[in-house]
Amino acid sequence: MNLADLNKVALAMVTPGKGILAADESSGTIKKRFDAIGVESTEETRRDYREMLFRSQEAMSKYISGVILYDETIWQNAKDGTPLVRLIEQSGAIPGIKVDEGTQALPNCPGELITAGLDKLAERLKRYYERGARFAKWRAVIDIGAGTGGRNIPTMTAIHVNAHALARYAALCQAAQIVPIVEPEVLMDGDHDIDRCFEVTERVLNKTFQELRVQRVALEGMILKPNMAIAGKKSAKPSTVEEVAEKTIRLLKACVPAAVPGIAFLSGGQSDEEATAHLNAMNRIGGLPWRLTFSYGRALQAAPQKAWSGRPENAAAGQRAFIHRARMNALASKGEWETGLEKKVA
Ligand code: 13P
Repeated sequence: MNLADLNKVALAMVTPGKGILAADESSGTIKKRFDAIGVESTEETRRDYREMLFRSQEAMSKYISGVILYDETIWQNAKDGTPLVRLIEQSGAIPGIKVDEGTQALPNCPGELITAGLDKLAERLKRYYERGARFAKWRAVIDIGAGTGGRNIPTMTAIHVNAHALARYAALCQAAQIVPIVEPEVLMDGDHDIDRCFEVTERVLNKTFQELRVQRVALEGMILKPNMAIAGKKSAKPSTVEEVAEKTIRLLKACVPAAVPGIAFLSGGQSDEEATAHLNAMNRIGGLPWRLTFSYGRALQAAPQKAWSGRPENAAAGQRAFIHRARMNALASKGEWETGLEKKVA
């Protein structure tokens, strides 16, 4: 492992004023997104859509530091035969790859999940590196609520095995000279309040960093991708922007060592503007040991998907919508976003 080079890539992923585009939806997830805009999900439509994003030169060169790809996409070529990975590199962004293979039911823990994909990961990482990937992503999913049979979740078991798998993945990535994005996602699907989210996320992050230490992962060569401290979508007490910012910063300061170069949040089902406002408010607090930016999927892509709607003649409108959201989040990564800017759609 060359830690100096891993650290260089990690810092580039969180370059001030830039963030990560999570375009790594599995075939099942992208089908759901395409269903919502009335587009059939085929290898070709998935390629056309992602090619449209990667050819948004203004967004890619100014506001996007890296792109997380799905396995299918990393091997795909653009319409003119250029590998999509090359388009990303040519724009100045870094190609990355989702390497987890989704979730499975966790035995003995009804309603809870464990992320799969460690088998043969070392060989897969080698092939991804050769293709151009310089960072990877692995997502663990922790749900809050009542599991099957009315028992409270998450269990300690689910937190432990998911943290263990995240650290196994991270160690394998670094051995393959790939920067791991470590993503322990506490879902915001339930009716819990922000304090319950805080408490569960604190346990999850503490366990994750404990496992990372046990497995000798170099913190300088990784990026953390956490959820924010936020009330569940069905909560009777929705969180304010200030509350999310203040509690998320307090949580991260308590759990994330300063050696970690950067934190790139997931959007997790927040609206586009909420995700931007939260990131902005956190960066306004300032005085943080790590860089704070975005690694959004839905909050960057919902608008361009709608504008595109599968029609080639809408490609320019799709790109404009993507450039706008990327710019808004780039400003938020510096604490320079204001709600008034949303009206001036590019
Ligand atoms: P969302 O921003 O839509 O949560 O997606 C980010 C991601 O990569 C989830 O794994």
